[in-house]
Amino acid sequence: MENDSRFRRLPQARETTVTLLLEGRPVTARAGETVAAALLAAGVSITRTTPVSGAPRSPFCLIGACFDCLMVIDGVPNRQACMTIVHDGMAVARQHGAAAVTEDSN
Ligand code: FES
Repeated sequence: MENDSRFRRLPQARETTVTLLLEGRPVTARAGETVAAALLAAGVSITRTTPVSGAPRSPFCLIGACFDCLMVIDGVPNRQACMTIVHDGMAVARQHGAAAVTEDSN
């Protein structure tokens, strides 16, 4: 699928794909890659908005340090898309503003 993403995947001899759902829209990902990598390769750059100004944020560090990739993943808010491996049927949504932090939050 062509898109305007600046990220390009290297070719692989064997590629197993899974499908995640970004706010109900199917996105094809490689098995074993992170949610952030899958979304960036698909041309999706905005993963959340900030609590104060609502400014859009994109994955930045891709190593779990900056928290700009927080998303709602499988119904759980505040999950780092760059540290979460995709699975088939995963439900992903952009996180808008601050999400409540509970003892059950991961
Ligand atoms: S991109 Fe920095 S923590 Fe995920």
